[in-house]
Amino acid sequence: MPVLAIDAGTTGVTALVVDEDGTVTGRGYREFPQLFPRPGWVEHEPDAIWSATLTAVRQAIKQAPEPPTALGITNQRETVVVWDRRTLTAPRPAIVWQDRRTAAICDELREAGHEDEVRRLTGLRLDPYFSATKLVWLQRNEPDTWEGIESGRYAIGTVDSYLIARLTGGREHVTDATNASRTLLYDTFAGAWSDDLCALFGVPREALPEVVPSSGEIATTDPTLTADRATLPIAGIAGDQQAALFGQACFTPGAAKCTYGTGSFILVNTGSDAVRSEAGLLTTVAWDLGDGPQYALEGAIFVTGAAVQWLRDELQIIGSAPEVETLAATVEDSGGVVFVPALTGLGAPDWDARARGTIVGITRGTNRAHLARATLDAIAFEVRDVVDAMAKESDIAIDELSVDGGASENDLLCQLQADQLGAVVRRPRTLETTGQGAAFLAGLATGVWASTDEIAATWQEERRFEPTPGVRDDGSHDRWRDAVRRSMNWATG
Ligand code: G3P
Repeated sequence: MPVLAIDAGTTGVTALVVDEDGTVTGRGYREFPQLFPRPGWVEHEPDAIWSATLTAVRQAIKQAPEPPTALGITNQRETVVVWDRRTLTAPRPAIVWQDRRTAAICDELREAGHEDEVRRLTGLRLDPYFSATKLVWLQRNEPDTWEGIESGRYAIGTVDSYLIARLTGGREHVTDATNASRTLLYDTFAGAWSDDLCALFGVPREALPEVVPSSGEIATTDPTLTADRATLPIAGIAGDQQAALFGQACFTPGAAKCTYGTGSFILVNTGSDAVRSEAGLLTTVAWDLGDGPQYALEGAIFVTGAAVQWLRDELQIIGSAPEVETLAATVEDSGGVVFVPALTGLGAPDWDARARGTIVGITRGTNRAHLARATLDAIAFEVRDVVDAMAKESDIAIDELSVDGGASENDLLCQLQADQLGAVVRRPRTLETTGQGAAFLAGLATGVWASTDEIAATWQEERRFEPTPGVRDDGSHDRWRDAVRRSMNWATG
């Protein structure tokens, strides 16, 4: 009984058909345009996400030998979509998690003394990354859209909610706790939308979706979507980083994963304990299988793979992203160069929206290979900073990190990562653990897998990277931290 997963990511939509032993038997992918209407703004056209979803799903189903019996959805988180409840069209583009237009609104709320309350209720921070200040911006700048929200004509949601509305012909307006816990409107600890936060950000509670479990039959797809009027139960929802944690079978407290994409997101399972962070990490819901939330501590790093793209597209010192590995391997080390890729400010654990990319230690002999190597070092250092903070705050030693996402194919990076962590890096056979996680959540609800133990049994290791003794403490990390300090508070705007 195969399961279909839709992974609606930031740059494209992937659809996977996953069979009982976790094997991907069908795959589809479609990119959609990224809109940058002003510096620091990032938008998506919801219609483009929807049509990419349909294309990817059709490709995956066509490729798979057997048709799926259930559907799980996972998605880029925090991104805000507004749509007309009747026509399902969007009055304006979605405002994406990467969008920094609300930095001044965050400053204003901080100066008015709201940061403590926001952190206490959500486990997050006042940062443009999260959904709520994006809604404040709409309220202040687009009165027509806001009037539609207040009158009940428009619904608000994250990408999961929007896709479910489209998949059900507008019958359902739902989300799950993993997505809700990224909005700044949800009380992560009480497990419900917060009236206080809705009042603080001026968001009408009625415009928000109903929160349902991450695994459970929620709705049925609309028969008009397919020529043969086939329907599928929608039985799983989770934000993409939480889905990856599930797909990596990190089911017990202390189990941790890192997904290397444009940015990198490290999550460690903390079980039924919602651990509050004082060291720049986020408290987030890992999943709710219907019996209450499980939590995770998260470190969200905004720029890792994007730094490699920068080498490729702006500096043009590599022709393709994988070339960074071959180029970096031509030198023994970075030759003293340290690159802090704070290209859009710094996320976890330093959180400085005004930090900027910084390269120190350049000499007359520095060449592009040193820079390539410094970029991979930087990714490994950034992830180490987060994992070190996690170990400190959760009292759980992380002695193994499961990796996935595009850059986890890079053997040199995995080795550098193991060396910096002083811990084992485990790479699974399937690197598309985000989509797999959504399939597992849906299949758990529909009897494809009877338990998380059965799911864990499908996880297969492809390779493990053991730490090289002595490297973690060789002083290079101190130089990195020094460079991070130099990158901070640079931008004037
Ligand atoms: O929080 C943002 C995250 O969900 C984005 O993930 O993989 O779409 O870049 P991705």
